[in-house]
Amino acid sequence: MKKILITGGAGFLGSHLCDRFIKEGYHVIAMDNLITGDLKNLEHLFPLENFEFYNHDVTKFVHVPGDLDYILHFASPASPIDYLKIPIQTLKVGAMGTHNLLGLAKEKQARILIASTSEIYGDPLVHPQTEAYYGNVNTIGPRGVYDEAKRFMESITMAYHRFHGVDTRIVRIFNTYGPRMRLNDGRVIPAFIGQALRGEDLTVFGTGNQTRSFCYVDDEVEGIYRLLLSDYALPINIGNPNEITIKDFAEEIIKLTGTDQKIILKPLPQDDPLQRQPDISKAREILNWEPKVSRADGMAKTYAYFKTLPKDELYKRDHKDFSNYNKD
Ligand SMILES: NC(=O)c1ccc[n+]([C@@H]2O[C@H](COP(=O)([O-])OP(=O)(O)OC[C@H]3O[C@@H](n4cnc5c(N)ncnc54)[C@H](O)[C@@H]3O)[C@@H](O)[C@H]2O)c1
Repeated sequence: MKKILITGGAGFLGSHLCDRFIKEGYHVIAMDNLITGDLKNLEHLFPLENFEFYNHDVTKFVHVPGDLDYILHFASPASPIDYLKIPIQTLKVGAMGTHNLLGLAKEKQARILIASTSEIYGDPLVHPQTEAYYGNVNTIGPRGVYDEAKRFMESITMAYHRFHGVDTRIVRIFNTYGPRMRLNDGRVIPAFIGQALRGEDLTVFGTGNQTRSFCYVDDEVEGIYRLLLSDYALPINIGNPNEITIKDFAEEIIKLTGTDQKIILKPLPQDDPLQRQPDISKAREILNWEPKVSRADGMAKTYAYFKTLPKDELYKRDHKDFSNYNKD
């Protein structure tokens, strides 16, 4: 049985990846310090013999006994509110965490795939974004902690690949959504659905003419799975090229939830990218992958998930409590 370590396994994407690799017959070790994740996302896997959970901060030395075939490094705060509240942890998990996991991959001779992001393109001057575009990132802006951590992550991964011959893969993930996103994590889809379920007006930042392209989680996981098993070591965009303005998307949410809320405009946060659309030619050509789930179907499943959450969660406005975590 192949063994895979998934860091960030208790998070949104990590937990879906755990499910997928369990389904494929792997022995899965999820590692997470639960800073933004939740064990609820994994509790259905705890009874399985081929599943283990390590509560561990990957910025500290990472040890896993025995052989390891694959590592997926997905540990990192990922929503703008999270990484603005824990900026130093975000930089550390991208830098020190990635260094630790590359060291583990080298020791175990395991293949490692790291989760990069469309944010490495910053506020892009090229549209849609191809992998050849170097990006337009404000290094010292508030979002720089995430964008630059991910850029460093890609650089150190390529250095381990070229210098130590470690077998590496890099996925550049574009906005992904689906069940198990945190309702209060500040990302656009849970924010809109939360507002709709509470009967509040939907907040759109800026003019609402900025665009996003949303990929359903099952499509994203399929792309990551194919990339891991491919022999392609350079970065690949995995996302859905179907682009929509935030204002039109808010209208879609109002229709989906059957409510009569209005849209209210608020000022755009600093360095919020105006356009986002992946060029997925490489993924099509190399991985024979493209997204299959329409926004209507994906959003219906996501909405159905959020509707099952207990009412108190819906009204819990406090953001996740980070007070117990090291601030340095
Ligand atoms: N969801 C998206 O749209 C998206 C887009 C681009 C990139 N990504 C990347 O995918 C990965 C997962 O994102 P997500 O949306 O699932 O976010 P998430 O917050 O749901 O999951 C991240 C997980 O990492 C864990 N974690 C954070 N720091 C850690 C540390 N030091 N040690 C151990 N565990 C730690 C958290 O507790 C959490 O469970 C991240 O690396 C993120 O940058 C996600």
